[in-house]
Amino acid sequence: MSLTRAAAFAPVNIALTKYWGKRDHEINLPLAPSISITLSDLGTLTVVQPDAHLSANRMLVNEEPIDGKGLVKVGRVMRAVRALAGTDVRAGIRAVNTVPTAQGLASSASAFAALAKAAVTAYGVDVDLATLSGLARTGSGSACRSVHGGWVLWNEGEKADGSDSISEQLLTPEAWPLRVVVAHIGEGPKKISSTEGMKQCEKTSPFFEAWIETCHRDVEDCKVAMINRDVQHLAQVVEGNALAMHATMMATRPGLIYWQPATLGVVHAVRNLRETHGLSCLFTIDAGPSVVVLTEAADLSRVSAAVGAIPGVTRITQTRIGPGAHLVPNG
Ligand code: PMV
Repeated sequence: MSLTRAAAFAPVNIALTKYWGKRDHEINLPLAPSISITLSDLGTLTVVQPDAHLSANRMLVNEEPIDGKGLVKVGRVMRAVRALAGTDVRAGIRAVNTVPTAQGLASSASAFAALAKAAVTAYGVDVDLATLSGLARTGSGSACRSVHGGWVLWNEGEKADGSDSISEQLLTPEAWPLRVVVAHIGEGPKKISSTEGMKQCEKTSPFFEAWIETCHRDVEDCKVAMINRDVQHLAQVVEGNALAMHATMMATRPGLIYWQPATLGVVHAVRNLRETHGLSCLFTIDAGPSVVVLTEAADLSRVSAAVGAIPGVTRITQTRIGPGAHLVPNG
């Protein structure tokens, strides 16, 4: 076993059909499969430095020390990596996000995918992508999809140990190079985390069972839209899935409302661009107020201008579908 400093970058991913409901809350096993795209540029750079002098892992995120639930999740991933490496040595960890933390833009997905990639390298453990996705998943479920680039499927699996709940690439980034516009809405971290929001929906949403059935159907439908590179079909599936997830959230007691007025403004603008002006675009919304818009390259500037002009959209980020987690030499 050789211990060394290692740095990895992992991008965020945006689910096209969502993960929202768990069969195991400890190691993040989902009740349904999900499909996502991995975004380039936006993500987390993480450095892991094993240190025999430390009695516990230490972690800084954007130069701030983390503790509480965040550190517990990090500890879960690091424990699994130490077990694979056969060592007790703890580590100092520094992570820098290029995406706002906890605003419903999947910063936890990039954070745990980057941590898993940097940690296995730092601890000298040779793992395949399936094992790496499993390690990332124990930190945050959606992180298992950021291990791969392009269009990614996360199989829900059946086994209690999660060994079959892993992600795989369905299409490379180049195979269907749609462009992405993130409409940033709202300030500060969201009030209810994904972990808490999912639990609340499982316990009190009258639509929860129907939602999980919808996810199983939507994944199959999404695959058909992908095979045919059919934006209209993709729009029906992806928008329908996001709206069904938010309907499930809103129907909990107390109702979970992540949207701001600008969220609905972008939703209507995208529908109008597609249905009235014939542009190829569609929206999705995670557990937060921001909206992510997919579009064909030819329509990118018109879509960006329209979305950026909606009151309450604080800024927009244009990006692409990109590669998955990777090492950063000298990072
Ligand atoms: O992995 P978590 O606990 O951050 O949950 C992610 C939940 C959504 O982003 C709303 C959906 C998804 O599939 O990414």
